[in-house]
Amino acid sequence: MTAKASSDGLMEEIVGLCKRRGFIFPSSEIYGGYNGFYDYGPLGVELRNNIKQAWWRDMVQRRDDIEGLDSTIIMHPDIWKASGHVDGFSDPMVDCRESKLRYRADQLFFAPVIVAGETIGYVSVVECPEQQEIAEKAAADIKRKAAKQGTLEPIVLKDYTESMPEEYDLVPSPATGKPGSLTAPREFKLMFETKVGPLADDSAVAYLRPETAQGIFANYKNIVDTGRVKIPFGIAQIGKAFRNEITPRNFIFRSREFEQMEIEYFISPSADWKALHREWIDTCIDWLVSIGLPRESITEDIHPEDKLAFYSQATTDLMFQFPHGEQELWGVACRGDYDLKQHQEHSGKSMTIFDEASKEKYVPHVIEPSLGVDRTLLAVLTAAYTIDEVPNDKGKVEQRTLLKFSPKIAPVKAAIFPLLKNKPELVERAQALYKKLQRRWNVFYDASGAIGRRYRRQDEIGTPFGITIDFDTIEKDGTVTLRDRDTCEQRRVTEDELIQFLEEQIDG
Ligand code: GAP
Repeated sequence: MTAKASSDGLMEEIVGLCKRRGFIFPSSEIYGGYNGFYDYGPLGVELRNNIKQAWWRDMVQRRDDIEGLDSTIIMHPDIWKASGHVDGFSDPMVDCRESKLRYRADQLFFAPVIVAGETIGYVSVVECPEQQEIAEKAAADIKRKAAKQGTLEPIVLKDYTESMPEEYDLVPSPATGKPGSLTAPREFKLMFETKVGPLADDSAVAYLRPETAQGIFANYKNIVDTGRVKIPFGIAQIGKAFRNEITPRNFIFRSREFEQMEIEYFISPSADWKALHREWIDTCIDWLVSIGLPRESITEDIHPEDKLAFYSQATTDLMFQFPHGEQELWGVACRGDYDLKQHQEHSGKSMTIFDEASKEKYVPHVIEPSLGVDRTLLAVLTAAYTIDEVPNDKGKVEQRTLLKFSPKIAPVKAAIFPLLKNKPELVERAQALYKKLQRRWNVFYDASGAIGRRYRRQDEIGTPFGITIDFDTIEKDGTVTLRDRDTCEQRRVTEDELIQFLEEQIDG
């Protein structure tokens, strides 16, 4: 039997496991934590690196049409003026004057409570999967308290950016439940500012990048001039990004310091961008499946045309069923030639390319697949987290918690166990195999405790393979026992077979 914890408790269980086993800690925890910042512990950093390496290998090294880049986090501030971030990169926020809590206006939902055609109050709720039920229950309470006869009209939630000035004083604050304390929505700038150089005046203002993409646009000319790229081609970058999010929440889903894996894929303005966009969406889905996300957990959210930014031709978000609901994991946007043209205008440097095939000169258009490392890690944890029942050493069925990571990204690839720790010949042989495998992969050696307990400890951190050295290994044929984490099945293999199997599973 295999089960996922109920979605309510799933996030708490994942957060608990991450802390307990050293995947993720709240940043600055000894000082009470720091909202929106997280640290990755020994297993977390392995998992994170493996995700980034898998992406880099598949998107850059195994493709002939994509080049890599590593640009600085702090760049010339004019880049952010040209890109539109200085003026436009903000989220609408709303403050509760009484509780001093701050909400993102597009995550705060409200509705009038209408009974027999008359508005008798308002309900509000912070965005969550159960928001409709919560709002309907609150509306029924208002009707009951008002002792109002008649039919309660359906509750139609709108987000607070759609509120009218006359509604600001009527919508209750989610914190206090009372109306009158919410402000009008105001724009809140998301870029972190810093100062560069000895002067502390406005001329020294610089920004921590809120996306890696602009570093790519700013280096596009360098790569065109120094590489041997020809249209269509992409530039990929992995790196930190910073956003002063109003409401960082849902663990590492929305944080203030995170990492992105972005590609700008440059195409001819006359190319069939719709077909190329589709190709990229499929490539992204295939990659997510290759690192272990179930295909059925990924859906597509196509942005309606009237909600697109003025320069955007199309955007499709790949959505994943996170513990807190279905949310954006990977954005795939067609941005036309907006960014390069902006940089051409602001820098005075030509961004045109000569297309050998068509003999034309133009500023290319771009398709931008943009993925968060931390969000991918949360998706991977969500998909992998499993509770099942298996027999213990004595044959008694008991519950176990396991992480079903794909061997490609599992933090520890295999654990090596001598059957008994007080038999030097077993220990010696197990140590030798451990040292040999350690030269290629992150493996673990564990000699303490009953073998069943050792298996469980590895199951909980998602180690796909257990390798046990027993008396048959040293007295008979040299074979070892290879145990599969998910099925618990064991089989005997020679050392050569073991290494070939691990190569296929981990590096394949
Ligand atoms: N260059 C385009 C861009 O940055 P975005 O939709 O703002 O687009 C792309 O971000 C991806 O970066 C998102 O799909 C998500 O995976 C990740 N991301 C964005 N903001 C994040 C945050 N505050 N915390 C964690 N990941 C975030």
